[in-house]
Amino acid sequence: MNTVYIREMYSDDIPDVVKIERLSFTTPWSETSFQSEIYSKHSITRVAELSGVIVGYVCVKHIADECHLLDLAVHPDYRKCGIATMLLDNVMQGLRIEGCRFFYLEVRASNYAARKLYEKFGFNMVGTRKGYYVNPTEDAVIMMLEL
Ligand SMILES: CC(C)(COP(=O)(O)OP(=O)(O)OC[C@H]1O[C@@H](n2cnc3c(N)ncnc32)[C@H](O)[C@@H]1OP(=O)(O)O)[C@@H](O)C(=O)NCCC(=O)NCCS
Repeated sequence: MNTVYIREMYSDDIPDVVKIERLSFTTPWSETSFQSEIYSKHSITRVAELSGVIVGYVCVKHIADECHLLDLAVHPDYRKCGIATMLLDNVMQGLRIEGCRFFYLEVRASNYAARKLYEKFGFNMVGTRKGYYVNPTEDAVIMMLEL
């Protein structure tokens, strides 16, 4: 595989990002949701680019010493190549610079791939939210990593 570059997400990237979002989630974010994240001073948004093509992205919100993973996906054709790992490594560097200490996320209980990814980074399960997800209804597992 050619080199994957992790860089800031720009407005022009959003149509490609939304295509991956729709392939990845049953209740995908709209273009407007991504637009508001890229302009929020409390957000870190990154894309993974391979040979000029967007293959993944991540959005994180941070306030004071706490941050929250809002969205993370990799195009189905490029999964299991380490791209989500690169995206998370990159945002974590930024979060540490911002002074974040506690990184939280929610994940569908049945999302084995994502849970394994987060466990590999050292996230621990700290709780659940009953019926948090819709389409289909499912509990969320809350995970936390001390940065
Ligand atoms: C979860 C997701 C982002 C992982 O992206 P990825 O680029 O394939 O992940 P990586 O290649 O960096 O994998 C890193 C680790 O995650 C785990 N992992 C990733 N995919 C996995 C799978 N299908 N099965 C089991 N473990 C998996 C492994 O521990 C892997 O490490 P390894 O390669 O040494 O085994 C991707 O599957 C995806 O986009 N899924 C749909 C959207 C989604 O669920 N997002 C998360 C919402 S909370």
